[in-house]
Amino acid sequence: MDYLLTDEQKMLRDMAAKFTANEITPVAAEMEKAGRFPHDILKKAGELGLMGITLPEEYGGGGMDSVGYMLAMEEIGKGLASLVLIMSTHISLAAGSIHKFGTDEQKQKYLPDLCSGKKVGSFSLTEAGAGSDAAGLKTRAERRGDTYLINGTKQFCTLDPDCDNVIILFALTEPELKTKGISAFIIDKSMPGWRVGKKEHKLGIRTATTSELIFEDCEVPAANLLGEENQGFKYAMIALDSGRIGIATQALAVAKASIEAATEYAKNREQFGKPIAALQAIQWMIADMNTEYDASWLLTYRAALMKDQGLRFSREAAMAKLKASETASFCADAAIQIHGGYGYTEDFPVERYYRDARITRIYEGTSEIQRLVIALNSMK
Ligand code: CAA
Repeated sequence: MDYLLTDEQKMLRDMAAKFTANEITPVAAEMEKAGRFPHDILKKAGELGLMGITLPEEYGGGGMDSVGYMLAMEEIGKGLASLVLIMSTHISLAAGSIHKFGTDEQKQKYLPDLCSGKKVGSFSLTEAGAGSDAAGLKTRAERRGDTYLINGTKQFCTLDPDCDNVIILFALTEPELKTKGISAFIIDKSMPGWRVGKKEHKLGIRTATTSELIFEDCEVPAANLLGEENQGFKYAMIALDSGRIGIATQALAVAKASIEAATEYAKNREQFGKPIAALQAIQWMIADMNTEYDASWLLTYRAALMKDQGLRFSREAAMAKLKASETASFCADAAIQIHGGYGYTEDFPVERYYRDARITRIYEGTSEIQRLVIALNSMK
């Protein structure tokens, strides 16, 4: 699809591809197996300007558009999909929210260190009883003079405690108002009263460590309220529209990596006296994988383009995430089928792609929630 891209976008994509080949691919399988948070890779990504790609240059960001971001994230995800979760959470959900809703002081305080990768951003909305029903959260933030006192337990937060964390946290300030009683806060390590709880053991996406967050009388300065009090739910939904472009891109990366691995294998694996790529049964699978991938790519590109043009893109981001995540699962499954028994072993990367694909249909809104968002926004 190069004919749709600007020279600047292609340059960014090529730079990310080179970074992936040199720094990510050689260590990806081992790091993912160990479930080790990729501190060194993120440091190098920060040095190259990849941790703040879409943030304005005045804060140390790259000033790139969302299409460029999508292209770079796809290249990185082809090497290691879990990096895209960390980087998309950091760039779109955390730094993006501070940039969109924060005060000048908050932007000056947090964005330069987020853009350089010195600090790592997270987003904490989900709770045990608030997943798809994001407004069902119980964590409380009570105003006490110049501070808010926060109590509650959050679930499934992408973060590593050894980072200098900056977390966008959602908590109830007016519990009886549900979606209109939720506020957003910027939490950092200087604030006493929060800690990382249980770490999850996951099927895939393991370098992006996922943990519980516990808040016990955590004192947050009122200056760290993000935007207006009680507007947090809307901020979360707006952030997730962008986040869904990131997850669609992660899914595209898994789909593309699956296609490349399956094609290469089919060209080299001989059965019945010829490469299996010469068999129509395999060719049809390759055709379907490529068709689903291209459709998903175009939907994601459209959502990113609409975001860049300042249009509302909730419906289009949901379509992109829905389609791309289902395509990732389809392509990873077909890639294993083409590899036969070898595809089920750790000797080939397709078993990792299969595991990594699965979560893209769940986090940042399940496929069912994406359908709900698409339906509601298509009937307005
Ligand atoms: N942009 C702007 N405003 C929006 C919006 C958007 N995309 N979506 C909703 N709103 C506004 C609505 O207009 C409404 O405002 P008014 O009351 O002023 O009209 C308000 O927000 C409430 O909206 P709804 O009535 O639609 O809210 P709801 O409670 O019915 O929920 C939902 C809607 C779509 C189901 C929502 O709860 C949702 O998206 N759920 C999924 C949550 C999700 O994606 N969670 C994943 C979190 S992060 C994660 O996965 C962890 C990780 O990163 C690894």
